[in-house]
Amino acid sequence: MRAAIESLPGSKIREVANAGLGRADVLAFWFGESDEPTPASICQAAADSLSRGETFYSHNLGLPELREAIAAYASALHGPLGADRIAVTSSGVTALMLAMQMLVGSGDEVVAVVPVWPNLTAQPAILGAQVRRVALRPQGGQWRLDLDELIAQVTPRTRVLLINAPNNPTGWTLSRVEQQALLAHCRRTGTWIVADEVYERIFFGDAPAAPSFLDLATPQDRLVVAQSFSKSFLMTGWRLGWLVLPADAMGAAGKLLEFNSSCAPVFVQRGGLAALAEADTLVPAIAAHLKACRDRLLTGLSALPGITVASPPGGMYAFFRIEGQDDSLALAKRLVADHGLGLAPGAAFGPEGEGWLRWCFASRDLARLDQGLARLAAAMPL
Ligand SMILES: Cc1ncc(COP(=O)(O)O)c(C=O)c1O
Repeated sequence: MRAAIESLPGSKIREVANAGLGRADVLAFWFGESDEPTPASICQAAADSLSRGETFYSHNLGLPELREAIAAYASALHGPLGADRIAVTSSGVTALMLAMQMLVGSGDEVVAVVPVWPNLTAQPAILGAQVRRVALRPQGGQWRLDLDELIAQVTPRTRVLLINAPNNPTGWTLSRVEQQALLAHCRRTGTWIVADEVYERIFFGDAPAAPSFLDLATPQDRLVVAQSFSKSFLMTGWRLGWLVLPADAMGAAGKLLEFNSSCAPVFVQRGGLAALAEADTLVPAIAAHLKACRDRLLTGLSALPGITVASPPGGMYAFFRIEGQDDSLALAKRLVADHGLGLAPGAAFGPEGEGWLRWCFASRDLARLDQGLARLAAAMPL
């Protein structure tokens, strides 16, 4: 086995989940998904596709009509963008892996803004790249990026700048000014930006989407945006996503897709088409519900003693710490074992997250969040 694979860390979230294995009474908020099933119209479209016998391969880059629909959806949010820049992928995580396979090889340098969903930094590591980490910090009740520090770390030797915003786990969202500065800097250094924008529609500001690099970049810029149906359409189990690429990268994307999944399943792509057809009503409703979830959880957490928590401007997580608790893995295991409360340890998102806990507030029923809060309150002092 390659050393890069042997040395991959195991999932600390799974480690906590295993501590509650076989217990039906655990309230689990550890994974990044809602407990609400996919809207019925989307499921029906996939079922109809299977009934029609659509059980064959599609084009590597996806069904042409789905690529068109994605381009129209993205254009409405970010300005004109052709279907010739869209590659359909079997999930957001696959989109990101393809981007990494396209761009980085052994010994390349990648700079990542952290803490972050661990898959993002594991992918370049799998390919033998070196990942340098630039940490967000909590400041004045919000997570902040030290822009000067990040810019100083991105040099002509940096192959890829990896940014996830809205960020999992902190909810930190890149500002327009920060995006402009980073794009201008990466143009100077020749660095690719890989932007993980899968939470762009789970945004609680005064806009239908969080600021995207697509709003600023030209089609020639070295920019790859990874997207997913998982979060904004409640489709985590479907495994459907897409990439927005510079037009001259599409040949490479098609080739690589062939060697990875070849294509996303056609009936799943039909589900994606149905989702996009209803995006204007579905996504705002899902985002509004998640905002209500966020507000409910934040109000409850803020009322508990010794808790530090910032209200996330996007995403579906509250990232918080409890005074005096520095070992997040031990704490998360204790909360499961003794109190039936399933949270993700901050250390799962890198050393920068140590001492913090992540609570996914995507809950069909807000009362479930209240029950979780009651368990946390009963566990205190810890
Ligand atoms: C930051 C981030 N990017 C990408 C993904 C990938 O989502 P999926 O593979 O379900 O499309 C996730 C899922 O949790 C995520 O949190």
